[in-house]
Amino acid sequence: MTSDVRSLRLLGKVVVVTGAAGGQGAAEAEALALEGARVIATDATEAPGCRRLDVTSEQDWADLAAELKESYGQVHGLVNNAGVTWRARIDEVRPEDMARVHAVNVTGPLLGIQHLVPLMGAGASIVNVGSTAALTAHYPVAYTSSKWALRGLSKTAAMELGPRGIRVNTIHPGFIETAMTASAPPAFREANLRETPLGRTGTVDDITPLVTFLLSDDSAFITGAEIPVDGGLTAHGAAKSISDALRQGS
Ligand code: NAI
Repeated sequence: MTSDVRSLRLLGKVVVVTGAAGGQGAAEAEALALEGARVIATDATEAPGCRRLDVTSEQDWADLAAELKESYGQVHGLVNNAGVTWRARIDEVRPEDMARVHAVNVTGPLLGIQHLVPLMGAGASIVNVGSTAALTAHYPVAYTSSKWALRGLSKTAAMELGPRGIRVNTIHPGFIETAMTASAPPAFREANLRETPLGRTGTVDDITPLVTFLLSDDSAFITGAEIPVDGGLTAHGAAKSISDALRQGS
């Protein structure tokens, strides 16, 4: 199939994606490249087409920034997608679990912003990958608190970087079929389905169009926004269980 270059929304943009060895990050890297972006896919683990970058390492970020400065002179986009979960509840979680999860999910995006923003100019766009766990209570407390912290980082970055024309937005995926959710107990999937008005789980293809849009100039006046991609999970609070219970009881 031939593509019309005039329709490529990210043509010529240099975009870094973290956690791109699999799952949502790999799909984002592929989708952004199809829109004409020069994608630098990165991950802490070795994977074909991925440059090695541990988001918690200041040295890794400094090395990447130096390389990008040399190769391209500028960066137009950053997707802070890398993330880890730790399914321990409040009575089980240890301080070292909290620190490890927060290092990847919060400090990682902060380091990415700190190191790549100096290469960004007006029109650049940063997308942080939160979670529905950033919008509600959720049982894995280290993960939940880290994603809430990421919201604070995102809002602050949007405020600080706006005057330079750099946008920062956050997406909040619901249950998306990736390795992360495959590692959860079956009850997690079933309970999520019960709470999801659209009645299905999400796929990486539900995520990539939004990331593409937020990196493109189509979203030029959108910053500091938070967009759930969750089939309606967080829209109803606890009301769906109540509604379903009443329907069954009547
Ligand atoms: P995944 O587990 O398939 O992918 C995460 C990637 O991050 C992996 O390739 C992993 O190697 C990489 N990674 C982990 N630690 C890293 C580090 N220190 N430095 C660099 N890369 C690192 O999971 P998925 O679903 O693709 O997750 C992507 C993002 O979406 C994460 O931020 C996750 O918290 C978030 N999310 C996922 C949901 C889901 O249902 N799958 C729901 C809500 C949010």
